[in-house]
Amino acid sequence: KSSLKLKGKTVLITAGPTREKIDPVRFITNHSTGKMGYALAEAAKKAGAKVILVSGPVQLSPPPGVDIVKIESADEMYHAVMNNFVGADIIIKTAAVADYTPKVSYEHKMKKQPGDKVIELERTKDILSELGTKKRNKILIGFAAETENVEEYAVKKLKAKNADMIVANNVKAEGAGFGRDTNIVTLFKRDGTKIELPLMSKLEVAHKIIEEIIVLPKDLESN
Ligand code: PMT
Repeated sequence: KSSLKLKGKTVLITAGPTREKIDPVRFITNHSTGKMGYALAEAAKKAGAKVILVSGPVQLSPPPGVDIVKIESADEMYHAVMNNFVGADIIIKTAAVADYTPKVSYEHKMKKQPGDKVIELERTKDILSELGTKKRNKILIGFAAETENVEEYAVKKLKAKNADMIVANNVKAEGAGFGRDTNIVTLFKRDGTKIELPLMSKLEVAHKIIEEIIVLPKDLESN
């Protein structure tokens, strides 16, 4: 039965935003709600996989039967992913991970002072990129949230991160991206295949992504 094609496989999925602490009451984050990642967890579970969902702070309940690992910062997500990487056959990086984090996270609430305030940021680790260099016999799927030149940036990410597929969404398009129940995505595979999907619910998009993962030719895996 096609619905159980991932039986015996472990799928590691990341979802939601990260929170980068400035002080105990303030943080930097983004608009991700986790809907896309949680839909993927549900679709992978339905396909028979063991699912580990590494999630940033969101308002959703994990789908039944999915193992949840809750994290807040990009650094915590990095460690949670690396801890679960070895046993995973398929990794799907849906999370909107912060690219920058405050250099200093203050122990006490920052006090208002006259004039402007500068917060210095440093780069976080690029989790997808590191997985791309580490993986052997694993399928790695990345997302690309773009607002322009979607195809060009997605194809660049596919190669630069050594991923097997990139799911690109134009987060400015009506009905696509952060927060909504729908998405419009294009899948880019290593063999140059491009699959443009119409507006669909995030759960339908998730099922389609899982179907496309199942038919990824083994010999195209970038090991
Ligand atoms: O959560 P929703 O509200 O449902 O919204 C869904 C979504 C828009 C968040 C989702 O569809 C999506 O596009 N997720 C990826 C968002 C993103 O961070 O894209 P990016 O182009 O900045 O990153 C590219 C890839 O690198 C992503 O797979 C990301 O997980 C990964 N990354 C990024 C930075 C970092 N430090 N480490 C990473 O692994």
